[in-house]
Amino acid sequence: MDKFVIEGGLKLEGEVAISGSKNAALPVLAASLLASDESMIENVPKLDDIHTLCQLFQKLGVKIVEDQGVMILDTRNITSVEATYDIVRKMRASVLVLGPLLARFGKARVSLPGGCAIGARPIDMHLTGLEQMGAKITLEHGYVDAVAPAGGLVGARIVFDIPSVGATENLMMAACLAQGTTLLENAAREPEIEELAQALNSMGARVSGAGSSMIQIDGVSNLRGMHHRVGPDRIETGTFIAVAAATKSSLSLKDIRIGHLDAVIDHFQKAGCEFKVEGANLLVQAPERLKSVDISTAPYPGFPTDMQAQFMACMCIANGTSHIEEHIWENRFMHTLELMRMGADISMHGNLAVVRGVPKLSGAPVMATDLRASASLIIAALAAEGVSEILRIYHLDRGYVALEKKLAQLGARVRREKQEVL
Ligand code: UD1
Repeated sequence: MDKFVIEGGLKLEGEVAISGSKNAALPVLAASLLASDESMIENVPKLDDIHTLCQLFQKLGVKIVEDQGVMILDTRNITSVEATYDIVRKMRASVLVLGPLLARFGKARVSLPGGCAIGARPIDMHLTGLEQMGAKITLEHGYVDAVAPAGGLVGARIVFDIPSVGATENLMMAACLAQGTTLLENAAREPEIEELAQALNSMGARVSGAGSSMIQIDGVSNLRGMHHRVGPDRIETGTFIAVAAATKSSLSLKDIRIGHLDAVIDHFQKAGCEFKVEGANLLVQAPERLKSVDISTAPYPGFPTDMQAQFMACMCIANGTSHIEEHIWENRFMHTLELMRMGADISMHGNLAVVRGVPKLSGAPVMATDLRASASLIIAALAAEGVSEILRIYHLDRGYVALEKKLAQLGARVRREKQEVL
């Protein structure tokens, strides 16, 4: 197990390259299972979560060749339709193979994901949607067994109770090979859904309306492989904005998609950061002291839950009091206790955290509890006086490509060291 050792209090400077999006790459890779063909996917980020999905793919019989972020997947000889517990427990997004496998092979068996640190993470809407498309679902021994009717899945009108990203993606993929038309209402509108629709349409699917809350999918009888380039990671981009904001720095973020970050940029602007767009680069200039700003997480285009922890780290040293409300995950405040060990003044009231800004944080040993919580502790450590140790950094490796290297290039003093296991 590794830890990060960070000497904080330094201003950073320079340019940082943003990697391909984890949350876009995962469903796009899953979509390749819909075709009996070869797909080429570029700009795939080198992350533990991607590695886990590839391990699952290899168990299914997918042949994968990867070189410098370009992945070639041969899905012609699938020998299994089962996603086993040992893989799904490591990464809940593995459940995204359910829709494509069921649609193409008429059956699939996927371990139930169970809970995780940030919340219960049920998949009931994925399953009800597939049932509405005619699938027979049984839950036994911790597994979901799904079987399509003899003639394959059939299109249906599916109305989501809440706009779930994963359920929208799973059902959108399944519907591509179903008979007739599927309508997804109250669908998630995240940019990753739009990107998945683009990838599916490049395979010959007929998906329209992705990016709005009503998606129409006209089923086709088969799909071909895709050639797709994964777009930039909006959460990594937002994390580097938070790095600049917390360290009073000026940074240039390369090759980003500005339109996907409106809510994040808007709140950092209110906090006193200035932004300039130069082509595909975003320049962020932070003030000497941030102002406190309230946030309330919401589905896209609202403020992303995946940026809540990083924003909170910035608010810990802002001038004033910030109210932070979490509306997506019921247990996503575990970073607060660790931030408090670094001198932050935070009180918690259910899904509301009240952050009273302090002039400075002080370095301390802290423990990462989930992916974005790890990023928030790193941001706090970069801003803090003295040395911090961030333990259990393996969470970070699930979703950030070479973060310590990117930070070191900007002048941060960050080292990855082996963590002693007691
Ligand atoms: C995705 C993202 C994750 C992000 C989240 C919300 C990926 C790989 N992960 O996760 O980083 O934090 O969107 O933006 O893209 N829910 C149900 N029943 C279901 C499905 C979801 O009740 O069947 C609930 C969840 O408990 C949660 C909410 O819906 O409260 C949103 O979850 P969802 O949008 O599905 O998140 P994920 O797709 O798992």
